[in-house]
Amino acid sequence: MKYLVARSLDLPTRIARRLRGRSADYRQFLFDELTARLHEKPKRILEIGPRDGEDTRRLSSLAPDTLVLVDLPDKEERVRQWLGRIEGPVELIVGNLMYDARIAALEPFDLVWCTGVLYHNPEQLRMVRRLFDLTRPGGYLALESATARRPALRDENCVEIWHGIDKSVHRKHHVSKNITHLPSAKAIRAWMEMVGFTDVAPSRCHRKVGRALALSRAAFIGRRSNEAGVYYEHVGGNYAVGAAQ
Ligand SMILES: C[S@@+](CC[C@H](N)C(=O)[O-])C[C@H]1O[C@@H](n2cnc3c(N)ncnc32)[C@H](O)[C@@H]1O
Repeated sequence: MKYLVARSLDLPTRIARRLRGRSADYRQFLFDELTARLHEKPKRILEIGPRDGEDTRRLSSLAPDTLVLVDLPDKEERVRQWLGRIEGPVELIVGNLMYDARIAALEPFDLVWCTGVLYHNPEQLRMVRRLFDLTRPGGYLALESATARRPALRDENCVEIWHGIDKSVHRKHHVSKNITHLPSAKAIRAWMEMVGFTDVAPSRCHRKVGRALALSRAAFIGRRSNEAGVYYEHVGGNYAVGAAQ
């Protein structure tokens, strides 16, 4: 219901944009928010899941010394179609962020950009922790994701599990059938803070496009602290959150 109301309230803006022949891209808005927050030019940038290269082009405009892209093997052909048009030094690593030792061994980056990837992966706290390890202390993470879809859960601190749910329900909530875990916005923020990001700020990039989009996606920009978050402290342990082997 809330979603339908949001769609109706967005209608005048959508019509006005169409009449003016303009489009609004939340990834551009997120990029603008990020650059407004940067204190200095990032020398080393990592982008996870670039797929169409739109953000790669934006990130390369920051003129980093190193721009590393990571994407899955089934996207390699598509990425290579535009890779040659990116200005400056750019390197593609074809592999899985979560399981590839070459990626885990990379020297940390000043900026890590990760949009539309988290909800494709079931081990989400571990993924946020991996992104933490790939960010240098003082560096930034821009993390964007689709979020929990069931109206009663949208505003909760939770993860929706979509495994074993009828395809018709997936369709009804606009969730593609290969997605099994949809975190709420509060869960994403909680994970970022738990692993050790500070000044975690919610982005308005989706809301700038429309109310409906802001109900189904979220983005945060955080800064990496020196120390990783720990767990089991209350029972005398000191284990890094999300780094279990
Ligand atoms: C939905 S697309 C998002 C593309 C683009 N970043 C955007 O925001 O529109 C997800 C991208 O992340 C990649 N991806 C998903 N899981 C990944 C993983 N574990 N390691 C590396 N890439 C991954 C996919 O191959 C795909 O290119």
